[in-house]
Amino acid sequence: MKLIVAEAGPGIAAAEYIKDRINKFNPSEKNPFIIALPTGGTSLDMYKTLTSFCRDGALSFKHVVSFNLDEYIGLDISSASSYHNFMKLNFFDHIDMPPQNINIPNGNAKDIAAFCEEYENKIKRLGGIELFIGGLGVNGHIAFNEPGSAFDSRTRAVDLSAETLKSNSRFFGNDINAVPRQAVTMGIGTILDAREIIIMACGANKVRAVGKALKSEPDVMWPVTALQSHKNVLLFADKAAAGEISRYENSLL
Ligand code: GLP
Repeated sequence: MKLIVAEAGPGIAAAEYIKDRINKFNPSEKNPFIIALPTGGTSLDMYKTLTSFCRDGALSFKHVVSFNLDEYIGLDISSASSYHNFMKLNFFDHIDMPPQNINIPNGNAKDIAAFCEEYENKIKRLGGIELFIGGLGVNGHIAFNEPGSAFDSRTRAVDLSAETLKSNSRFFGNDINAVPRQAVTMGIGTILDAREIIIMACGANKVRAVGKALKSEPDVMWPVTALQSHKNVLLFADKAAAGEISRYENSLL
């Protein structure tokens, strides 16, 4: 895993990287670029920058197929806090990706297990994820793979941890009781199958998770440490989120 401290911000650096990666791949209808996309505050700068690339003609999403990482269970997709709504407002409404290329987990599926299986199958049918983009939870979660998630887990329904409910209550009017208790998430195994992985981390509340990602032994209680076994991972962090690394090294942990 390679740490890149991005002065201008992880979202902007990640967007630049994604633009170059997609343009180099030169996707076509027959050979689309498969990308996995996150939600969350850290991703906002990335979506804003990607939108401006698309507007300026520097990047097209016509032959890009996206799979979102996660969605709450039991939340109306038109709710302001749903990830469907987040993606529509912050990204999909502003770019040229055909609607049929957009995939987001259905947290209202009648049979969630069957939906998850089909989500995995669809990714496989299209040739697998070329580039996975994720944020980082304060507890080291990736997508909604909470501490304790198996490193070979696949897309499934999960219970959200108390820490995540608290952290995400900011998107639900600071009312922790309004945050759904469960979500559908890609698994850690699904993520590890991607050919390349980018993780973004912003802010001082992520220093511990960034430090664990880079310095700790693989530990199921810190899901991000699973990525150490992958050959192609970039961790874009701002200065505040990367702070822990120097502390770790100085304290010989
Ligand atoms: C949510 C998402 C995660 C994301 C995390 C970080 O929990 N399910 O996929 O990584 O938020 O969010 P933020 O960037 O707002 O800190």
